Amino acid sequence: VAKKMHEILDTHDGSHTLLSDQHGVTYHSKYGAITETNHVFIEAALRFKSAIQQNIRILEIGFGTGLNAYATLLEAVKRNLKIVYTTYEAFPISEEQASTLNYHEQLEPEIGNSNFMQLHKLDWNNQQFINENFQFKKINQTFQTIEDEGLYDIIYFDAFAPESQPELWSADLLSKMYTALKPEGLLTTYCAKGIVKRTFKSVGFTLETLQGPPGKREMIRVSKI
Ligand SMILES: C[S@@+](CC[C@H](N)C(=O)[O-])C[C@H]1O[C@@H](n2cnc3c(N)ncnc32)[C@H](O)[C@@H]1O
Repeated sequence: VAKKMHEILDTHDGSHTLLSDQHGVTYHSKYGAITETNHVFIEAALRFKSAIQQNIRILEIGFGTGLNAYATLLEAVKRNLKIVYTTYEAFPISEEQASTLNYHEQLEPEIGNSNFMQLHKLDWNNQQFINENFQFKKINQTFQTIEDEGLYDIIYFDAFAPESQPELWSADLLSKMYTALKPEGLLTTYCAKGIVKRTFKSVGFTLETLQGPPGKREMIRVSKI
């Protein structure tokens, strides 16, 4: 059965994003998909954590286009980190759709054979070494099934916004995120709505408000302290 394709859009930094046909929202900021990934996840979470440790376990909420995973892989190689990356995605895009995205062109144009497509082609539910710096596992299940305890140093919380999927920003799910983190673990997200900040605090997180990427005044980083 051919999967439905999402519409592909250019964002302001020249990188692509997708328009979810189910939710009518884009997978990234229209002001720049790669810019947003670098700002919210690579800078505010990964670089922040890797200033103190080289072995890092990451949980991603929403594999989507694979951009966050791919940018993390490139950062791991560049800084010689040892990353174990686990990502959940209940509604994967097709390989065909992934192959139309321009992230490889934008991020490592000189390299012929892209790790980007490899991340999409790998089997689900199977942890594998992509290279010596990056182990990867993608799980084809909903976020609601996550029951991990004390496993992760970082969570990239990249669900669609609360306006389209409020159930993913509930105290119930954010509390699962708190449980899944190690002590001192942290989570970043692009969303800084008042209600979201209050929910993170209510389940035990310590909250920081940081400058957002272009087009967004604020973002948040929360920690399990
Ligand atoms: C904002 S997009 C993720 C973007 C992604 N991190 C990237 O780099 O492209 C949110 C993702 O969550 C997925 N999703 C939505 N509801 C879900 C659920 N209940 N469980 C698991 N995945 C879900 C969507 O299919 C979508 O791929």
